[in-house]
Amino acid sequence: MNTATQAGTHAFQKDSPFSLDNPAAYRAWRDAKLDGYPTRVEELVVEVGDPRNLSKPEFKALHARCCKTNMAVYAGPDANNPDKDIPRLLGRQFGLTDLDRNMGADDDGITALRVAGKEWRGEYIPYTNKPIHWHTDGYYNETTRQINALLLHCVSPAAEGGMNALLDHEIAYIHLRDTNPDYIRVLMQPGVMTIPANSSNGEEIRPARSGPVFSVLADGSLHMRYTARTRSIEWSPDPVVQDALQTLGALLGSDSPFIYRATLQAGQGLLSNNVLHDRSGFSDDEAHTRQLYRLRYYQRLART
Ligand SMILES: [Fe+2]
Repeated sequence: MNTATQAGTHAFQKDSPFSLDNPAAYRAWRDAKLDGYPTRVEELVVEVGDPRNLSKPEFKALHARCCKTNMAVYAGPDANNPDKDIPRLLGRQFGLTDLDRNMGADDDGITALRVAGKEWRGEYIPYTNKPIHWHTDGYYNETTRQINALLLHCVSPAAEGGMNALLDHEIAYIHLRDTNPDYIRVLMQPGVMTIPANSSNGEEIRPARSGPVFSVLADGSLHMRYTARTRSIEWSPDPVVQDALQTLGALLGSDSPFIYRATLQAGQGLLSNNVLHDRSGFSDDEAHTRQLYRLRYYQRLART
């Protein structure tokens, strides 16, 4: 399938639980979603023998978790192995092939996240040891190139810190809709969130981009664009939008049982439909240098 059409925003399918005109479908979907929803991050973890070649039960266990929570953590045996085939071939087993070749990525589309020091990457927070606020990946991408799946593979953790908080974006949707359905209405408007152009030395690297927070993909699944950053972001001044953002911010800043917190260890990785996440600050030492591979895909995890 052409990635541009797959990633675009589509009209609601009939009976979509995400349509505000269909409260009965929403209620049924919501109740099924919350029934037995895991609240401990340990429940997301699946030990695997070789992430490059999962056994059937390993695949099924990871797939089932992704269906329920839009994410799973695999724990492989290969600590400190920098082989990029580990995450690349793991992703392929879930139908993930179409990598977003973003600015920081290597030629193969895989991004090595580590502290970059003085090179140009060091101007961007992912390549520093600073905390990163809540976001979904690629929220600044054009609407036809949205990131639907995100894979993070840990080669080696930091000496201290580097913890991720994780929240299923469908849980964020439920929280907002249950608080006030109008929040969903305004957050689905195409101009609600604008990322100003990115310029360096007077040259425009990326034009300004506007889009919705929530949208529905061709396959009927929910997509979310979001960043909690307060600089380089322009939100609609509509008071309902401002209330919605405050409600979402309060959830993200809370100790909700739906928020998982985990520090990926060597050989572990997060497989996700680009759920909301943040990262705490960290410190490396001579023996411990945090290195993660980040793979962003236009596809969602297959059949989730
Ligand atoms: Fe991210």
